[in-house]
Amino acid sequence: MTETAIFPPRVTPAANPLRFPINLFKLLSNNLEIVPEQAYDEEVVLARGPPRMAFITGPDAVETVLKTRHADFPKGRLQNEVLEPLFGNAMISSHGKEWRWQRGATAPLFRHDELVRYVPTMYEAAEKVVEQWRMAPEDEPRPINRDMMHATFGVISHTMLYGGADDVIASIEKGHAEYFRQVNWWVLNRMLRLPRWLPRPGGRSMRRHERRLHDAVRGLVLNRDAKAADGADLLSRLLVAKDPETGRRMSEEQLVNNVIAFLVAGYDTTALALSWALFLISQSPEWSMCMRAEVDRIAGDSPIGPEHLEGLVVVEQVLRESLRLYPTAPIIVRDIFEDVVLGGVHVPAGTIGIIPIYTIHRHRRFWREPDLFDPSRFAPDAAAKPNRYQFLPFGAGPRICIGATFALIEAKIMLATFIRAADFKLLPGFLPRPTGQMFLTAAGDIPMRVHLRK
Ligand code: HEM
Repeated sequence: MTETAIFPPRVTPAANPLRFPINLFKLLSNNLEIVPEQAYDEEVVLARGPPRMAFITGPDAVETVLKTRHADFPKGRLQNEVLEPLFGNAMISSHGKEWRWQRGATAPLFRHDELVRYVPTMYEAAEKVVEQWRMAPEDEPRPINRDMMHATFGVISHTMLYGGADDVIASIEKGHAEYFRQVNWWVLNRMLRLPRWLPRPGGRSMRRHERRLHDAVRGLVLNRDAKAADGADLLSRLLVAKDPETGRRMSEEQLVNNVIAFLVAGYDTTALALSWALFLISQSPEWSMCMRAEVDRIAGDSPIGPEHLEGLVVVEQVLRESLRLYPTAPIIVRDIFEDVVLGGVHVPAGTIGIIPIYTIHRHRRFWREPDLFDPSRFAPDAAAKPNRYQFLPFGAGPRICIGATFALIEAKIMLATFIRAADFKLLPGFLPRPTGQMFLTAAGDIPMRVHLRK
């Protein structure tokens, strides 16, 4: 295929490791700007801080931290403290035994053969968005990121809480975006070990949102009868999930926390992945045509179903390349409690280990033309396959995203539905600005004109 070379917007890294307090200012506005230029060329870079950080981007060092010696590098205390009010003792923020049994109990719910039963829900949610585009005035630009949030929220709420969870859905939609816009102030509070009660922008509305969400989900868990729900949704299956070794079940509190964690973790990340993918294909008529031809050939006019997943090869390539350039969970944090040598660099105990997935995906030593949009890197017959620790949008090792297959199936079904239905044109003069907050956002809406094909 002859292609126009597309170099989409990137983060401008700091020229050198930042010192206090500039590092903290950057953290508030765009946490990817604290990753220094050197981390795109070297394997491990130290920033003296305070706080002292090690940016770990070389595949061997990443493998050591996330897999080989994962027990020595627990999930960042800071990250856990930040998310604790929202997730409590859910699997996502637990350690050791407490984490292991919850992971063991929930893992079977997230297997590919279990998840394909949700494909019709995913397709319907995508078609609902297409229907909204159909009803909207033709020339009115759509905030594509918000449309995607709506779509993925429809999926996670219906698969998690099938039938009657209006109050939960309302409470998430109400405060969610605002919550994550303000979260970096809370990160700063915990980083500086300030009193938790110290007033900060958005602090009160964040606490209100947490309370509202917990109350709504608790009500749901208390009123749910697993047998009556017939095992159709993830919540009723979580109610009967057991530790495969001991037969233990989740406490009410753990159920509430895990439902919240799945709702939150499974919503923005996938919506943003779809938004970035649509932005990229709006820049590339060649890849849009190629994807559409594939969808037309594989599914024709019929609803996109589980039987089409395997054939949507180009759609998956575009999705992977999009997650490479814009990994929507862009930073993983691990604590380093003992002196260690990583990538030939001595990292002292007490350093915060930053694994910037965004930077790893654009590392100049390991990727050819790292800033170029080129889905052919992921072609099944591509000559050089990326190393396991060089492409990791869902993390790696035992704490890899439990929802990775869910997200990939959902994004594939949705992207195929959207590209079959419409052409996407970015509003002239607008360019998204990749911004790391909790997730990788575009620093605002991505306005697009959606031209429906039929
Ligand atoms: C494109 C979409 C997604 C991306 C990019 C993503 C990314 C990630 C990453 C990088 C991690 C590892 C964090 C770490 O090691 O510190 C993670 C963990 C996790 N994700 Fe996802 N995720 C996505 C979708 C989902 C979905 C759909 C769900 C649930 C339905 C989900 C639930 C979780 C949970 C529960 C964990 C914690 C696992 C554990 O600690 O054992 N994610 N995700």
